Amino acid sequence: MRTIAWEKGKVRIIDQTQLPQRLKFRLLKTVAAVVRAIKTMQVRGAPAIGVAAAFGCVLGSSRLKDTAGKLIAARPTAVNLKWAVERMLRVAKAGRGLPPEKLRWLLLEEALRLAEEDVVINKKIGRNGSRLIKNGMNILTVCNAGALATVDYGTALGVIRTAHASGKKIQVLAAETRPRLQGAKLTAWELKRLKIPFTLITDNMIGHFMQKKQIDLVVVGADRIARNGDTANKIGTYTAAVLAKAHHIPFYVVAPTSTIDLALRSGRQIVIEERDGSEVTNIGQERITPKGVRAANPAFDVTPAKYISGIITEAGTFSPSRLKGAKL
Ligand code: MRU
Repeated sequence: MRTIAWEKGKVRIIDQTQLPQRLKFRLLKTVAAVVRAIKTMQVRGAPAIGVAAAFGCVLGSSRLKDTAGKLIAARPTAVNLKWAVERMLRVAKAGRGLPPEKLRWLLLEEALRLAEEDVVINKKIGRNGSRLIKNGMNILTVCNAGALATVDYGTALGVIRTAHASGKKIQVLAAETRPRLQGAKLTAWELKRLKIPFTLITDNMIGHFMQKKQIDLVVVGADRIARNGDTANKIGTYTAAVLAKAHHIPFYVVAPTSTIDLALRSGRQIVIEERDGSEVTNIGQERITPKGVRAANPAFDVTPAKYISGIITEAGTFSPSRLKGAKL
């Protein structure tokens, strides 16, 4: 199932804020609606917001520069957003002087290509990564790096999916991923649909299960990977990586090469999105703290390269110190 598509001149997304209760599709007609959907995480996950923004560029093709700025500013950490919009801007530049309708058509072609490429890339990533998965392994994943976070198939979950489809007997541990609960809501929803055996755990159980030797491998997605391999991903990823190192458990980052940002020397230069504290003080509509409590809410953290065993991409698996080769 395509999580993002172009339908009769509109962008069709799955509203991820409604899952797992409802599988609700939404048609976005304006750039403002696409920006809102990205900000409110109706559409989320690095590759997915990139593709949504590319379609947003089609909707805003008559004022593309302004549209591009708004889309890129919607969420700051995942580089795929900027990468996809810049790809659209390059098409517009090459088509400068063309009649508006023709330019819009060229932009649509590029956005559709981007969406299709995402699926092909994810399947390649799946094949590359599944080689690391052995029969009987217990695999931890954090957040949701599945079909929902991409156009289809997923990255870290794509690796798990490929291994499962090839007949390997595996068990997944899905970390619930506070505060937005992408693990509990979205990864659990996907794993259930795929009939992949899994157990949901809270984020603070990770150390315990590693100590008990019930985790053999960790695979996570990424939102931005700096030139030296430092990786921004969902908050809590860093904690899992340090724990994995302490327990000698391999820790792999899984991402398309479009997530690698060679312009950044290290993870220190990655901008971390700070979201509203109400996502921490509330679960859904319910406040779980006393009134007026101030809560911090960084949406991502940076895992230093020294904790990463390898970065699995469509171009192969790279040691974090050899990332430049992946982008050639
Ligand atoms: O805040 P989110 O839900 O957009 O964060 C998503 C993640 O951190 C994913 O792990 C990452 O984008 C990779 S998705 C293939």
